[in-house]
Amino acid sequence: MASNKILFVTSEAYPLIKTGGLGDVAGSLPAALKAQRQDVRVIMPAYREAMRKAEKLGFASFQIEGIPETVRLLEGRLPGTSVRLLLVDSPAHFDRPGGPYADPDGHDWADNAERFAMFSRAATAVALNKAGLVWQPDIVHCNDWQSGLVPALLNQYPNRPATVFTIHNLAYHGQFDATKFQSLKLPEYLWGVDGLEFHGGLSFIKGGLVFADMISTVSPTYAYEIRTPHFGHGLDGLLNHRADRLVGILNGVDYKQWNPAKDPHLKHAYDAQSLEGKARNKQQLQKQSGLPQRTAAPLFGLVGRLVEQKGIDLVLSIIPQLVKADAQLVVLGSGDKGFQTELEEAAAEYPDHIAAHIGYNESLAHQIEAGADMFLMPSRFEPCGLNQIYSLRYGTAPIVRHTGGLADTVVDTTDENIKQKTATGFQFEHATHEELWWTCERAISIYRDQPKLWQQIISTGMKQDFSWKQSAKHYLELYQLALDKLGGKAARP
Ligand code: ADP
Ligand code: GLC
Repeated sequence: MASNKILFVTSEAYPLIKTGGLGDVAGSLPAALKAQRQDVRVIMPAYREAMRKAEKLGFASFQIEGIPETVRLLEGRLPGTSVRLLLVDSPAHFDRPGGPYADPDGHDWADNAERFAMFSRAATAVALNKAGLVWQPDIVHCNDWQSGLVPALLNQYPNRPATVFTIHNLAYHGQFDATKFQSLKLPEYLWGVDGLEFHGGLSFIKGGLVFADMISTVSPTYAYEIRTPHFGHGLDGLLNHRADRLVGILNGVDYKQWNPAKDPHLKHAYDAQSLEGKARNKQQLQKQSGLPQRTAAPLFGLVGRLVEQKGIDLVLSIIPQLVKADAQLVVLGSGDKGFQTELEEAAAEYPDHIAAHIGYNESLAHQIEAGADMFLMPSRFEPCGLNQIYSLRYGTAPIVRHTGGLADTVVDTTDENIKQKTATGFQFEHATHEELWWTCERAISIYRDQPKLWQQIISTGMKQDFSWKQSAKHYLELYQLALDKLGGKAARP
């Protein structure tokens, strides 16, 4: 494909700021697009934490059309890459402690509608070359509700770039009170069920779903699932209506960051040929988690947001069985206060078997991937999921529910797959205590009684290649489709 100018609009990007997988994707997909000879620039809010971590920022623009004078565009590079970075510096909205969406206590910022409307307006101005950059993108690639207003705002301009909207998680709508529609002074024609209205409120995500030239989500299975009522979060009707615009592209991962042979967060490097380092990392993880350093105990790991989506209640429900089976579990995560407390209580009750690290810790996330034998991801839904892909590379067999990207990346240990030597982990169908526990038992018994088969499963997993190259090519095809759709629209009378 010819070289396109792409504006990649995101609310987080590793290593500047990250709350979950979107940060990983925005930190690595743009570089993969650049490697495909695309002229890509990332635009993100200038959060205080991101400003601290960004290197060598300069002023790109002092005035953005239609935006108050206090807002400026800063320019730099996404650290560790040669990708150009634009930061929307609106101190009133973004220069504060805490995360991108919530305050340090985990409560959503009360002015999130204003914050991301401002961000979307600035991105829209850049997209229309009205920000003094002398650069007009051909494609604007938006991600999740925080940039959902961009395709809606751009839609009114005849010479606009093509728009792509990627759903990383349909559960988060960016839903606000209808009065915000007025106070944000959004164009009148955007109101209504064919616009941004959703059950009487204002929905940012609908901006992307209704107006983008093409829509994608982060795995083929999730692309199918979200068109059903069970996974559609009330938007399945709209997604079916736009089904000819919807595709699923599996996320890639950045093996520069996630490679046990060269991981600066690990004390002991290892690879598929020599797993000695993995055993040492396990001991290290047990020590650091206050668990007895027992080589033979199957060690389960879990890293993630502690929310309903991730099936944390199911994990809590199997703790007595895990203890009885003499297995160990190390959890790292933050989120729902109830889950946090229950995990801490379980750790206090079973100090030899359960360890709970509440909080966000990049190094520990890598150490759990390396030190655990199995990785738990019993998600109720999972658009893609990155941790199970990291687990595969770290020789840590993923135990996952058959949904979304988990279904697309993990090959279940069935008799057939064992014979074919394709098994890489364990899958189960229904989000129930029983099915999760049976699956864990299945994994534990192979781990304990069939070490050769265990080796085969993890070494097959370690050989899987989910690097970005292939997926980046699919995004190029998606961009072409968006350009074609836009061209078709312009040609119509
Ligand atoms: P989601 O985006 O739904 O949170 P993913 O599996 O796609 O799930 O991505 C989660 C990313 O966030 C992974 O890189 C994971 O290691 C990281 N992560 C989640 N919680 C934590 C935490 N408490 N500490 C460190 N990293 C975390
Ligand atoms: C979301 C999803 C996760 C996905 C990530 C990156 O947060 O929950 O499954 O991997 O976005 O696309």
